[in-house]
Amino acid sequence: MGEVDPAFIQDIQHRPKAASSPVQADGIPLIDLSAVVETAGSQSLGGGLDGLVADVGRASKEWGFFQVINHGVPPEKLRRVEEAAREFFRQPLEEKRKVRRDEASPLGYYESEHTKNVRDWKEVFDFLVQDPTLMPASYLPDDNEATEWSNKWPDYPPELREACEDYKEEVEKLAFKLLELIALSLGLPSDRFHGFFKDQQTTFVRLNYYPPCPAPHLALGVGRHKDAGALTVLAQDNVGGLEVKRKSDGEWIRVKPTPNAYIINVGDIIQVWSNDEYESVEHRVIVNSEKERFSVPFFFNPAHHVMVAPLQELVSEQSPAMYSPYSWGKFLITRKRSNFMKLDVENIQVHHFRLPPSQADS
Ligand code: OGA
Ligand code: NI
Repeated sequence: MGEVDPAFIQDIQHRPKAASSPVQADGIPLIDLSAVVETAGSQSLGGGLDGLVADVGRASKEWGFFQVINHGVPPEKLRRVEEAAREFFRQPLEEKRKVRRDEASPLGYYESEHTKNVRDWKEVFDFLVQDPTLMPASYLPDDNEATEWSNKWPDYPPELREACEDYKEEVEKLAFKLLELIALSLGLPSDRFHGFFKDQQTTFVRLNYYPPCPAPHLALGVGRHKDAGALTVLAQDNVGGLEVKRKSDGEWIRVKPTPNAYIINVGDIIQVWSNDEYESVEHRVIVNSEKERFSVPFFFNPAHHVMVAPLQELVSEQSPAMYSPYSWGKFLITRKRSNFMKLDVENIQVHHFRLPPSQADS
């Protein structure tokens, strides 16, 4: 990725304004999870967490984003992943392409995603948390066949697989704790969401490698987007570049790298489950002309057969359901398919399931 190919030049609305400098004091809430991590193992959260629950609720509502510290994920496990991943990405393209994703099972390596003819300045390696994972075989609504997706591990570096498998166990525990805090913050039992993730969750982890970009003003690492899943638990290195669209005024705010912190954001599914109480927020990644950047999002996603809809408990006559139910598995493969085929159409979006006001009122 040495020179800027015209295909990398971003559409004007995707391009950061050269004149505006990122706001450094980010104001994004930083939440200390020690109180939760101390609760033993896989047990659900008990009482005495009111302050923490309120903080998570406020952050989810006001920002859709927050950072967590003292989260219980051992930092050396992330470091092992990072070292092995950098080793992997440093190889020539032909080597990396041996584990290239394909349409049947879109896990493994690829160079970047196309969105509306725009390419992101990055390389990616994806792996499933549950391997294999059941998925719908077809995006067609009436076809109920299932298929299996599975991981593609490279031979080199040999330690990548074990480092990744070890790491995802730890982040999964954190993701469940966060889900419990979010459930409590919505006035629900802490295990309210668990059934959606039991047995067949479709969670995957992405290793994002952003090479230095010779023309950073012409490209983005990742164009503006929202995360489609339930919750994202992201580790970023100390280079920085992630920007979040502040809900209060629409300004792009740089998320300052905080050592050993995770960045958490509410995805589209929680937006729907919460019936818009918590909104999935747009974010993007700015490239750097000198330094490579590395980040690791854990996309916490329910089982493919889950029908995503506002939770009954959060819907009432005063607050009618804002969305019609949609199949998460069909949504996911519809999106993967259009990315894979580089279709020049708008990708499927959660707002396509938003009910018109008349129906939401009835
Ligand atoms: C993503 C994403 C942010 C980052 O992969 O969806 O938003 O900092 N990544 O790499
Ligand atoms: Ni994202």
